[in-house]
Amino acid sequence: MHPDIIFLYIALNDRGLIRMKPYRLHIFVCQGKRCAARGSEQTLETLKERIKSEGIKDVKVSKSGCLKVCKETDAEGELCPAAVVYPEGVWYQKVTADTVDAIVNEHVKKGAIVEKRLLFKLTK
Ligand code: FES
Repeated sequence: MHPDIIFLYIALNDRGLIRMKPYRLHIFVCQGKRCAARGSEQTLETLKERIKSEGIKDVKVSKSGCLKVCKETDAEGELCPAAVVYPEGVWYQKVTADTVDAIVNEHVKKGAIVEKRLLFKLTK
């Protein structure tokens, strides 16, 4: 982001002119063709519904294009559907709709990584 934009944002925020609340987490669920073939659309919808039904307002769920996780193994799509949680940079594999409960209960609510679906975590 251009430094002038950051300065402008800070100035507007200081004056109370920015009303958008910052999100605590942003979860991207891949909707690329290999993840879609393994149910990522249902994962995305289930996750959105769960976040909404729980009344969780500080977590944003978005779809993404191919995250390239599908190319990580010889068997293309083996790790799909893929999802990533920011700002932690936690990448998940095989995030099917039945995995959503664990991600919401453990990661979203407790900040704990769901180890059974962890692909990797970005390092600082
Ligand atoms: S299609 Fe989802 S990682 Fe490539």
